[in-house]
Amino acid sequence: MNIAILTSGGDSQGMNSAIRAITRTAIVRGHKVFGVKKGYQGLMEGLFTPLDLRDVGDILHRGGTFLQSARSQEFREPSGQEKAIAKLKEANIEHLVVIGGDGSYHGALALFGRGVKTYCLPGTIDNDIAYTDYTIGFDTTVNLVVSLINNVRDTSTSHERTSIIEVMGRGSGNIALHAGVASGADVIIVPEVEWNLEDVCNEISEGFNRGKKHGIVVVAEGAASGEAVAEEIEKRTGLEARSTKLGYVQRGGSPSSFDRIFTSRMGDKVIECMENGISGVAIGIEGKEITYHPIHEVLSKKADFDFKLYEIAKNLSR
Ligand code: F6P
Repeated sequence: MNIAILTSGGDSQGMNSAIRAITRTAIVRGHKVFGVKKGYQGLMEGLFTPLDLRDVGDILHRGGTFLQSARSQEFREPSGQEKAIAKLKEANIEHLVVIGGDGSYHGALALFGRGVKTYCLPGTIDNDIAYTDYTIGFDTTVNLVVSLINNVRDTSTSHERTSIIEVMGRGSGNIALHAGVASGADVIIVPEVEWNLEDVCNEISEGFNRGKKHGIVVVAEGAASGEAVAEEIEKRTGLEARSTKLGYVQRGGSPSSFDRIFTSRMGDKVIECMENGISGVAIGIEGKEITYHPIHEVLSKKADFDFKLYEIAKNLSR
């Protein structure tokens, strides 16, 4: 079989590990692999490069994606999809593995509807894809964010300040929730749960009244701007507040062992699906199992948010 791999949308730590796993598993089982540079944009331009065992050496521990990534407006149009299909046919490639977030899944579904055998792996730090417990890069990002919040906490304590840390996640509060719990935040603000500034300010003031030496507020970018929350806290409580927007530092760096291991297992699963004639599927991790589901099914579901964990966090911030 001839197999192409592309990474699309925002990059995430562990994408390289997934590319390596798919490539090596396929080659060991007698298939040919091509990397597509720059996502769907590169697919439309026919940017194929043959990959052998050594081409994916020395990338397991690296963040980003060595195939590079892009967001393509042109590919959203049927004419763009036809261009991509023509390039795949020209190169005699019948299988396409897409590593990316839900936008990339829509692209893979469109190609599948036009006859290309497609397979998706959940590559996004946001952990906002419904069927899978984890997306690729989420674990690394949460660990990074926790370590950065530890640093902020040190200086907040010295100055008896409240620090507001704004994290990524697009419309999802999963990074904020998990990093917030792991770093002992006083308040976690996410788009999934209603909140108001009065409650946030009360929580912070009461913390100081109980003898806390700092306040930590983790804000998901999809819920509010950290800067605005800091300004309001200062205005309403008279306490000093500072905002830190973590930005892209949370999307890079070496992937965690967890991200490396489950992506290695996903590489095996995707080739198994191909060999069994199963396509149009999204690979995931559910509990201990590496699973697959039809792409259209996973796109019709809403991503999970752990409300129970959110409640636990509230009790533990006392
Ligand atoms: O989807 C991943 C993500 O990092 C989001 O958390 C963030 O909102 C977005 O991508 C940033 O996108 P860009 O790389 O286009 O600035």
